Order: sequence, then C-alpha cells, then structure tokens
Amino acid sequence: MDEKVGPGGRGRDLDLIEEHPILDFQHGERVRFFFDGKEIEGFEGEPISMALHANGVRIYRETAEMHRPRGFFCAIGKCSSCFMVVDGVPNVRTCITPLKAGMKVETQHGKGNVPEMDERRRHS
Ligand code: FES
Repeated sequence: MDEKVGPGGRGRDLDLIEEHPILDFQHGERVRFFFDGKEIEGFEGEPISMALHANGVRIYRETAEMHRPRGFFCAIGKCSSCFMVVDGVPNVRTCITPLKAGMKVETQHGKGNVPEMDERRRHS
C-alpha cells in the first residue's frame, strides 16, 4: 500500500492545495472514515474520492474481467471509473458522493455484490 495512505494514523497531514491566487478553499468539519479497514481523515461534505486522493489513494476499483486498476477519469459523475463500495453498497460514484464521518469505503473488485441479491440467492 502507498506510504501516504492513512496520514491520520501516521501523523502526516492531508495532501491538499492550501492556497490559490483566485480560489478560496472552505472545508467542512475534519472527520474520520475507513478505507479498506484503515481509519483515515477527510473533510465532511467533500467528495469521497477527493478525500481518498488527499490521502494518497489513487486506485478505487479493479475491472471485472481483466482486474485492471481504475481511479479518476471524468471526476464529474459521468463514467464508472470511481465506483467503490460505500457502507456495503457497490457501484457508488465516489467523485460526486459527499463524505460523512464513519463511512466505510472499500476498493471495488469487479462488479461488486449487491447485498439484497446475495440474500435472495441464498434463499432460492
Ligand atoms: S470519475 Fe467518472 S463518475 Fe467518478
């Protein structure tokens, strides 16, 4: 795993642009959430993938057949490159989904499992 993942746990700060000549950055409350079981930090309300990027995470999922890594592509919610499993729900577009404290974000492998579908298969 990338050395930058989990700066909160290792005492390193987030990799963010702090100053800009035109833009003023305003963040929500600093919160903790989980990425593949590790507790890391981000700002509430920012896109999940932005928080992951600030923590050095660049791979969000791997493709179903070839297992190729995928990260940002459009970053505006128009593709499927940033699909991840969020709080047990697969195929969440993390570039447009706001971060909340305590979220459990996981790398998605393949198409992901829909919990209700798994439950139905067990009973059929
Ligand atoms: S990167 Fe395209 S939908 Fe998120």
